[in-house]
Amino acid sequence: MQSFEQYFSAWISKYYQNATIGKNGDFCTATNTSKFFGGAIANFILKNLENENLKLPLNIIDLGANNLQLINDVYDFLDAISINVVQNCNFIAIESFANPKQSKIQALKNIKQLQIDCNSFFIANEFFDALPCHLYDNKKIAYINNNKLEFKQSPKILIDLAQNEGFNKSEIPLSYFDFCKVLDSINTHKKRWIFAVFDYGSKHYTNDFNIRIFSNHTTMPLISNNNLNQRCKKILSTK
Ligand SMILES: C[S@@+](CC[C@H](N)C(=O)[O-])C[C@H]1O[C@@H](n2cnc3c(N)ncnc32)[C@H](O)[C@@H]1O
Repeated sequence: MQSFEQYFSAWISKYYQNATIGKNGDFCTATNTSKFFGGAIANFILKNLENENLKLPLNIIDLGANNLQLINDVYDFLDAISINVVQNCNFIAIESFANPKQSKIQALKNIKQLQIDCNSFFIANEFFDALPCHLYDNKKIAYINNNKLEFKQSPKILIDLAQNEGFNKSEIPLSYFDFCKVLDSINTHKKRWIFAVFDYGSKHYTNDFNIRIFSNHTTMPLISNNNLNQRCKKILSTK
């Protein structure tokens, strides 16, 4: 028996190795819809350099950069609309499956490899909502046993987190805190940073799970009657 979080991690790492994001895949992001998404981010970075919110040299760091399309678009637009800016920026992609040998972009497989040595601009587009998570329900978490969900006593760390944040039932992506630690470690007296995050979510806590699966541009709930939805099971095992 494994926790739902272990099951999700194992599945998602295989999934993204072969996934196509875009028209021919299971879902689209703003990145594959238009290069102007990266253009808008480049323009925003430039405005923040002009008004001295940020200073060169600058790290531009894309979390969950997938095929590096977005960070390349940011590079190309910055190159086109400014003088001597790209030459003074480090373009860094954090992506589990990235090939580190890119010409303009440095690719790191893990956020823990990142060294923050100057001002930084972080981008996280549809990243945090894709992290593996625990399913937490009233001091219990989900385990997978023969493709069925079973809720058992939760580790204390998750109970404490739920109590501190004031919820009873929710997805909990613990790896999110690895990213918080990196930001926490930046000495903001010496280095400034901006974090631009683009994600889905609801403004109000619903006291329920909202985890869902995308397939061929449709979505379905992952859980039905406290078990893995039959259709999801097929998709999870064939990816
Ligand atoms: C939904 S996709 C992001 C889409 C992309 N940002 C875009 O603009 O189209 C999530 C990406 O995060 C990557 N990923 C997931 N967990 C990661 C981790 N802990 N560190 C680095 N990359 C991760 C996945 O491999 C996948 O490419």
